[in-house]
Amino acid sequence: MSTPPHDDEVFDCYTEAGKIAARVLRRGAGMIRPGVSLLEVVESVEQMAIDAGAGLAFPLNLSLNEDAAHDTASIRDERLFAEGDVAKLDLGVHLEGYIADTAITVDLGDHALLVEASARALEAAIALVRPGVSIGELGGAIQREIESRGFRPIANLTGHGLARYAIHTPPNIPNLSFQGGAVLEEGMVFAIEPFASTGSGRVSDMPRVEIFQQVSIKPVRLPAARRILGVVRERRGMPFARRWIPEERQDFALSTLIQQGLVRAYPVLADVPGSIVSQHEHTLIVTDEGCIVTTA
Ligand code: CO
Repeated sequence: MSTPPHDDEVFDCYTEAGKIAARVLRRGAGMIRPGVSLLEVVESVEQMAIDAGAGLAFPLNLSLNEDAAHDTASIRDERLFAEGDVAKLDLGVHLEGYIADTAITVDLGDHALLVEASARALEAAIALVRPGVSIGELGGAIQREIESRGFRPIANLTGHGLARYAIHTPPNIPNLSFQGGAVLEEGMVFAIEPFASTGSGRVSDMPRVEIFQQVSIKPVRLPAARRILGVVRERRGMPFARRWIPEERQDFALSTLIQQGLVRAYPVLADVPGSIVSQHEHTLIVTDEGCIVTTA
């Protein structure tokens, strides 16, 4: 075991990862136009983060229209952006395991008010962040900004705490008002991610699965499964994309790993067909009298 870095080094990793994520996400968003390939955008964004010296905390999520989260390009993805698409780009990078998680929505249609709803919801929640505020109050601000524009916040997606090499730790930050819940403390690191929808305000699992995560360590016999774990080991439990792992007997190997409890699947999460979802996300660190937004 190496010794954990000192607090100021941790702070520097978080803020530097945030700067990289913000810059790369903006450049990625600028690539999205009708006719451009999703695979090209995903691979370019991931490469930009790596070239900047960061690791990927999870595969770039690129989710279209009613898909809210957990889609990414597959290895031979032929999809192209089309006029009218609403694309969510959700990027997670890390330095030494300290994560910056940030998302933006690119509107190729006429959904400016929807995009504004998630953007303003994020701003309103961030404006409240300081020690002593409850996460239910953050949810209330998010819900108000989204509903006042005529949309629904997605109830079963939340922001989340961040820890070293861990992208989802307590507390969850709801997109709805509720009483009580965790109270913010100085030094907490978390991501706020409002989702606004024209649909039902709930997402469910789709058949498409491109993102996975190793959740336990056990020996496996199947050679194709061992090859996958060989690639995934260096992820330290952070999610990986199907397109990052060997293709040979891939479906069989993945389902074996899932059955044996070594790997978890993250299906694409979608609201009802024909609906549109927008998302904005920042990572922040609670300070004595407010917060620092690392991904601004
Ligand atoms: Co997040």
